[in-house]
Amino acid sequence: MNSSFPYKAIVAISEDGVIGRKGDLPWRLPGDLKWFKKITMGSTILMGRKTWDSLPGPLPGRQNWVLSRTSQAEDGMQVFRSLDEVRATLSPEKTLFIIGGGEIYTLTLPLCHELFLTEVRQKVPDGDAFFPEYKSRFEPLETLEENEHFLLRRWVRIPEQ
Ligand SMILES: NC(=O)c1ccc[n+]([C@@H]2O[C@H](COP(=O)([O-])OP(=O)(O)OC[C@H]3O[C@@H](n4cnc5c(N)ncnc54)[C@H](OP(=O)(O)O)[C@@H]3O)[C@@H](O)[C@H]2O)c1
Repeated sequence: MNSSFPYKAIVAISEDGVIGRKGDLPWRLPGDLKWFKKITMGSTILMGRKTWDSLPGPLPGRQNWVLSRTSQAEDGMQVFRSLDEVRATLSPEKTLFIIGGGEIYTLTLPLCHELFLTEVRQKVPDGDAFFPEYKSRFEPLETLEENEHFLLRRWVRIPEQ
């Protein structure tokens, strides 16, 4: 656990920086979803309320945490009113995976040391949710899969000089 940058994030981004459209993912990529499941299984996952609303229910095998100032807890998920509340609740040995969406990535990317980032080989001109700038702070370390639809790489935070 890196105490300054304790979290990990996982995201899929289009060639033009888009992650979402009208409250949903702009693509269907079963191959990428398989990786998402494998990488996040067993972890605590943190998402924004709008991403929670886009899911059919809690993601199995993971502790589902939702940041929201308005929602109430439901079966299979826990609600947090602030990032401070998240930090105070997380056990030090647990991995926290940030799984979106745009607002939550922007809030937490400064606290992440590792990114699992899928570059989707598409443009989404009518996208409405975006990922913050990351290339000045992270570098790619390992390719997990490359095919005609996407490139999935693990990125790590560039050490500060
Ligand atoms: N491509 C990907 O990998 C990926 C991954 C995840 C999601 N997405 C997409 O991203 C889009 C959703 O992203 P989004 O930016 O619109 O919404 P979001 O980040 O999922 O959720 C935003 C909500 O989170 C809550 N929130 C934000 N900051 C907070 C804070 N500091 N304290 C407490 N609560 C806070 C608020 O909920 P309340 O309004 O309830 O207070 C806010 O409305 C969807 O299209 C989704 O499909 C894409």
